[in-house]
Amino acid sequence: MDVNLNVSCRLTALQVMRDAPVIPVIVLSDVNQAVSLARALVAGGIRMLEITLRTPQALACMEAIARDVPEAVVGAGTVRSAADAQACAMAGARFAVSPGYTHAVGQACRDAGLPLLPGVATGSEIMMAQEAGLTELKFFPALQAGGSAMLKAWNGPFGDVRFCPTGGVSVANAAEFLALPNVVCVGGSWLTPADALARGNWAQVTALAYQASHLPRHFALTSS
Ligand code: 3PG
Repeated sequence: MDVNLNVSCRLTALQVMRDAPVIPVIVLSDVNQAVSLARALVAGGIRMLEITLRTPQALACMEAIARDVPEAVVGAGTVRSAADAQACAMAGARFAVSPGYTHAVGQACRDAGLPLLPGVATGSEIMMAQEAGLTELKFFPALQAGGSAMLKAWNGPFGDVRFCPTGGVSVANAAEFLALPNVVCVGGSWLTPADALARGNWAQVTALAYQASHLPRHFALTSS
């Protein structure tokens, strides 16, 4: 929790990953829910919020949270093009997450000042991201692409890379990932269940965030 949240401070990908054990993957289709949801997550100890570009309202939701919830850091998820990266930066996003990696997305994020957590699922993709200077990566889809066994295997040849496994991660298996030395945090949608959003059950979201923010992890918060 050592991050300066002031919007004038540029974050690093590692700061985004270190802030809490879980980055929530959020799908919002109602801009009126955005601020309440962000406040509920912050109340549970989760500040780095990945708003996915999967709905037409996503950019407006980012804008609303960036404007009204200064204790949160808006991130953009499902960034798949340079145009996505630019639009998210304009909407107030301060980090980006992508389901894969391309040099165009990497360059656009650099140009926009957005730290990027690109998705990788193979050794070649890790090497491409490393060629661009990226060492903090999302492992996606984590469960389907090999789970914790894959991360253990990667820790040999890619011992300098730190991962945020996402996809199929839940409170039931998060601890297995967070126990690994090359995992800093995990990503997942379980903190924001669709029915809780539909009913405006913000207490449930806060309880899930609180539970997530207290998950133990191997990664030492003091390491650089
Ligand atoms: C993502 O979008 O990054 C993942 O699809 C989230 O996966 P989950 O819904 O299994 O947590």
